[in-house]
Amino acid sequence: MKVKTICCIGAGYVGGPTMAVIALKCPHLKVNVVDISKERIDAWNSKDLNSLPVYEPGLADVVKKARNRNLFFSTDIDNAIDESEMIFIAVNTPTKNYGEGKGKAADLKYVELCARSIARVSKSDKIVVEKSTLPVRTAEAVQTVLDSTGNGVNFEVLSNPEFLAEGTAIEDLFKSDRVLIGGQQSKNGKRAISELVNIYANWIPREKIYTTNVWSSELSKLVANAFLAQRISSINSISAICEATEADVEEVATAVGMDSRIGSKFLKSSVGFGGSCFQKDILNLVYIAQSLGLNQVSEYWHQVIKINDYQRQRFAKKIMNSLFGTISEKKITLFGWAFKKNTNDTRESSAIYVADMLIENGANICAYDPKVNEQQMLSDLDNLNNRTSDINKTALNFCPDPYEACKNSHAVVIITEWDEFINYDWSKIYNLLSKPAKIFDGRNILDKEKLKVIGFEIYSIGKS
Ligand code: UDX
Ligand code: ADP
Repeated sequence: MKVKTICCIGAGYVGGPTMAVIALKCPHLKVNVVDISKERIDAWNSKDLNSLPVYEPGLADVVKKARNRNLFFSTDIDNAIDESEMIFIAVNTPTKNYGEGKGKAADLKYVELCARSIARVSKSDKIVVEKSTLPVRTAEAVQTVLDSTGNGVNFEVLSNPEFLAEGTAIEDLFKSDRVLIGGQQSKNGKRAISELVNIYANWIPREKIYTTNVWSSELSKLVANAFLAQRISSINSISAICEATEADVEEVATAVGMDSRIGSKFLKSSVGFGGSCFQKDILNLVYIAQSLGLNQVSEYWHQVIKINDYQRQRFAKKIMNSLFGTISEKKITLFGWAFKKNTNDTRESSAIYVADMLIENGANICAYDPKVNEQQMLSDLDNLNNRTSDINKTALNFCPDPYEACKNSHAVVIITEWDEFINYDWSKIYNLLSKPAKIFDGRNILDKEKLKVIGFEIYSIGKS
C-alpha cells in the first residue's frame, strides 16, 4: 500500500495545526481534515484568516499556503475515510463526567464512534492512527471495534501521540524534539509504522523518529505530560515556602535549574497550570494505576493535581485577604482568560477557577483577554455548575478596553502572561484604580520594583 491520501477526523487544536503542517511539508499527499461540527469546518474554510477556529502564531500562514492545494476541510467524513489509505483520529477525549471512572477516566465515546465509522465505511485496507491522547491499551479497543464491525478489510492501528504545546504549535511541529510512533511488531504492523515514518521524514530527521510498541507509545504520552506538570506543581509548592520566608521562587528556580541534570524549563511558578492535557492526562494515569490496584502510584500522581488546585485557591485567598477580608460587591479586574499566552484556548484555565472563587465571595469581575470573548468566559463559568447562568452573567463582565476595565477597580489580577500586559501604561492604570491600588501578578511578568515606585502594592507568586 502506498499512502497518497490521508484524512484526520477532528479539526480541533491538535488535528487542525498538525494536518496543516503535514500538508505544507508533504505537497505530494492529499490531506482531508473532517469534523462533525459544520461551524468549525466553515471557520477553517473562512476567507478571513483571522477567523480560523484555532489561534496559533504562524498557523494562518501555513493554512494560506496549503489550503485548497492539498489541504481540504470538510464535514463529509465518510467520503474522506473511503478515499484515504491512512486515517488519523484526533477527536477530543475529555475526562468522563458520568458513570464508572467519573472525574478521572478519559471518555472514549468519540474515539469509539470514529472507529465505528471507519469500520462501516472502509472497503479497502487502512492504517488507523491514534493522535488523541488516550489511555493505555485503547488501540486494542479500537482494533477490536474495527475488526468486529468492519467489512473484512485489514486495519493496522498505530499510536502517534502529539507533543505540540499550544501557543507554539507550529514551531513545535516544524521542529519536534521527537516523533513517537507505536505499532504492532508483526509484518503488517511494521509496514504501517514505516508508512507513517515516511510521512514525517519529509521534514523531521530520522534519528528523531522513535518507534515502539503500541502500549509504550500510548503510555509515554501520559507520562511526558505528568512529568511536565509535576515540575510545575513542585515549584508551585516551593512558592508557598518562599512567601513565608525571604526566599524568592525565581531565584530558587534558576539556581535549581542550572544543574544540567534538572534543567531550567518548566520551572516557572504560576497561579497553576491549565490546558486540556495536563489535568486530564494525570487523572487518567491516576485512574489507570488505581484500576491496576497500584494505589501508592495512583496517590503519588494525584498529588500533582492537588497542589495545582491548592495553588489556585491560595492565590484567590491571597486576593481576598489583602482586600481587607472582603470582596463583596468590589470590582476586580482580571487580565487574561486563556490558559497561557498566544492561544485562544481556555480549557482548564486557572482564570475560570480564580474567577469562580472571587464570584463566590461576592466580587464583580471585569475581565479582559486579547483572544477570548465574553461568551466563552461565561460558558466556562457555567460549565462548573456552581451557580445559575444569570448570576454568572451579572457577576462577570467582559471589558474590551483594558483601561476601562480598571476604572474604580479594587485590584488588577494577572492570570495569563500575554506580552501586551507588560507594555501597558501602568501609571495610567494606577490613577484609574481605587486606592490602595493593588496588583496580583499570577505570572510574575511585571516589574515589581517599578510598580512599587508608581505606588502599587504588588503581590507576586513566591516572593515575600
Ligand atoms: C502540554 C505539553 O507541553 C505538550 O507537550 C502536550 O502535547 C500537551 O500538553 P500545553 O498544555 O498546550 O502542552 O501547554 P504547556 O506549555 O505545556 O503549558 C501548560 C500549562 O502549564 C499552562 O497553563 C502554562 O502556563 C503552565 N506552565 C508551563 C507553568 O505554569 N509553568 C511553566 O514553567 C510552564
Ligand atoms: P483537541 O485539543 O484534542 O484537538 P478539540 O476539542 O479542539 O480537541 O477538537 C476535537 C474535535 O473533534 C472537535 O472539533 C469535535 O467537533 C471533533 N469530533 C468529536 N467527535 C467527532 C466525531 N465522531 N467525528 C468527527 N469529529 C468529531
